[in-house]
Amino acid sequence: MAPLTNLVLVLATGARLASAVTFAVPTTTGVSGYSYAPLAPAPVGISFEFFTFPSYFTNVTATTQCLANWEALTGTWPSIRIGGTTQDRALYDASTSAYVVYTVAAATDAPDNLTFGSSFMRLAGEYKGSVVLGLDRGKNNITNTIAAAKVAVSDMSNLLAIELGNEPEYWAGDGQPIASGTWTPATDAASQDSWDIQVGSAIGRTDIIQAGNSNSAPPTWGAAELIATENTTVQEYVATYAHHNYPGGTVQSLMTHSGIVSNLNQFPADVAAALRVGKPYVLGETNSVSGGGAATVSPTFGAALWTLDYTVRATYLNISRTYFHQGTIGNCYYCFWGRYDMGAPYYGATVATAFLAGGSHLTALDTGSTDYAGYATYDAAGKPLRVLLYNSDYYAGSGTRTATSFVLTGLAASSVKAKRLTAASALSRQDEGGNPSWGGQTYANGSCVVGGTETYETTTVSGGQATFSLAASEALVVYLQ
Ligand SMILES: *[C@@H]1O[C@H](CO)[C@@H](O)[C@H](O)[C@H]1NC(C)=O
Ligand SMILES: *[C@@H]1O[C@H](CO)[C@@H](O)[C@H](O)[C@H]1NC(C)=O
Ligand SMILES: *[C@@H]1O[C@H](CO)[C@@H](O)[C@H](O)[C@H]1NC(C)=O
Ligand SMILES: *[C@@H]1O[C@H](CO)[C@@H](O)[C@H](O)[C@H]1NC(C)=O
Ligand SMILES: *[C@@H]1O[C@H](CO)[C@@H](O)[C@H](O)[C@H]1NC(C)=O
Ligand SMILES: *[C@@H]1O[C@H](CO)[C@@H](O)[C@H](O)[C@H]1NC(C)=O
Repeated sequence: MAPLTNLVLVLATGARLASAVTFAVPTTTGVSGYSYAPLAPAPVGISFEFFTFPSYFTNVTATTQCLANWEALTGTWPSIRIGGTTQDRALYDASTSAYVVYTVAAATDAPDNLTFGSSFMRLAGEYKGSVVLGLDRGKNNITNTIAAAKVAVSDMSNLLAIELGNEPEYWAGDGQPIASGTWTPATDAASQDSWDIQVGSAIGRTDIIQAGNSNSAPPTWGAAELIATENTTVQEYVATYAHHNYPGGTVQSLMTHSGIVSNLNQFPADVAAALRVGKPYVLGETNSVSGGGAATVSPTFGAALWTLDYTVRATYLNISRTYFHQGTIGNCYYCFWGRYDMGAPYYGATVATAFLAGGSHLTALDTGSTDYAGYATYDAAGKPLRVLLYNSDYYAGSGTRTATSFVLTGLAASSVKAKRLTAASALSRQDEGGNPSWGGQTYANGSCVVGGTETYETTTVSGGQATFSLAASEALVVYLQ
């Protein structure tokens, strides 16, 4: 059953329409009428495009600090995934000492083909969090993929799973050898099933394959369809099922809460199919707009708000991890950080991490039909930990910025503190001086070091009730413990 949202429209004096939203916070997990998703220790992850992964870790200063900022919040290094289109252009070369070898016309191009050495896997093995490694299936060279997988198993104690191919639905158009002739969801599924068994048995590991990895909207190319083709032998080699998602659109359509919910509502049937066979379901690669992002959308504060709400809503739908893709360095609008600047979306992902940190369960307080969102996390004892409030009304920087009152009921404390995520407008970009602010703090360009003084707001609770004002295009995390 859906949680109750009580949206009261109040006609204020004068022409302006002000609104109030009331959310009852369940006083413990298990209160009926709500769904509670179990929380993984680090649901917010990062995906690195295959060919550029070594540069992120050896030649981009911000990478380690940006990940460490989240480790400081959760006690767990964020999960990473290495993969993308270039994983199916990559052959393992046991003889090279280089991480990757390729030639491109311009530094901002992705290579058409590349080789990688065992040092690539050793570098991945040095990361302190879990790693999903994406290997090639498109080139149809299983000998090569097994050789790489064997090095991954021996050199990566942090190896969570191996992907066998990325977004196979595009391979026929890309001229990938394995897709010559007939290439449909059914032929891809038969290919995945066979490769899962062959690679898994060659490396002597069960629960090792991250299967699926398509981008087209399910059910076609989705997990339920794939699982229906798998016998128990295939399934014992599968660790997780993954899907990709790039919603696209304008800043306003992207960040609107009801749009975020309806986009994610294409996944519950796939999630349920994976959970029925006892495997987690993840968004293995995602970001705002495909192909490196959109210049006018992906670097904005509105995209940061999307990142926050999208991550938390996905987690509520029992999607265990969400890996945000980072592409070609210097040619990537949706990237959370680069060599010189920070992307506003890093702030949204950081707030999602802070909100979910240390939680045991998550519930949604709204049905997803309006601009106004509420979520609550619960500790291991089932007690409310934090509430996230989000006003997705669009404010583009001109005219009056409206505000909405969010009323929480069922609170136990006599006062609560809160941290606000805000910026001058939904179009603010840090690289243009429109620094977002999370509890009064910012992340430095180039280094990702936090700056400024952490600031909490305090709100009095009276009769179990407290009221918070959120301007259009703002979010607030309320700390209940
Ligand atoms: C590191 O980045 C700089 C700046 O783009 C580039 O000139 C250099 O080649 C890179 N070095 C490596 C080892 O990737
Ligand atoms: C690999 O890419 C390079 C540069 O684009 C090209 O010259 C070469 O022919 C490609 N090789 C294959 C096997 O596709
Ligand atoms: C396939 O991989 C093997 C072993 O890594 C390699 O020797 C061979 O050249 C590859 N074949 C093609 C067509 O690239
Ligand atoms: C399971 O499926 C694979 C191919 O997907 C097949 O090779 C294998 O024989 C099947 N195993 C059983 C026990 O039916
Ligand atoms: C998520 O899984 C839990 C069981 O672990 C279940 O109770 C809950 O209803 C699921 N959530 C949704 C939205 O289906
Ligand atoms: C990041 O760089 C931009 C462009 O130089 C600048 O306007 C902005 O203030 C910087 N942000 C921070 C937090 O230092």
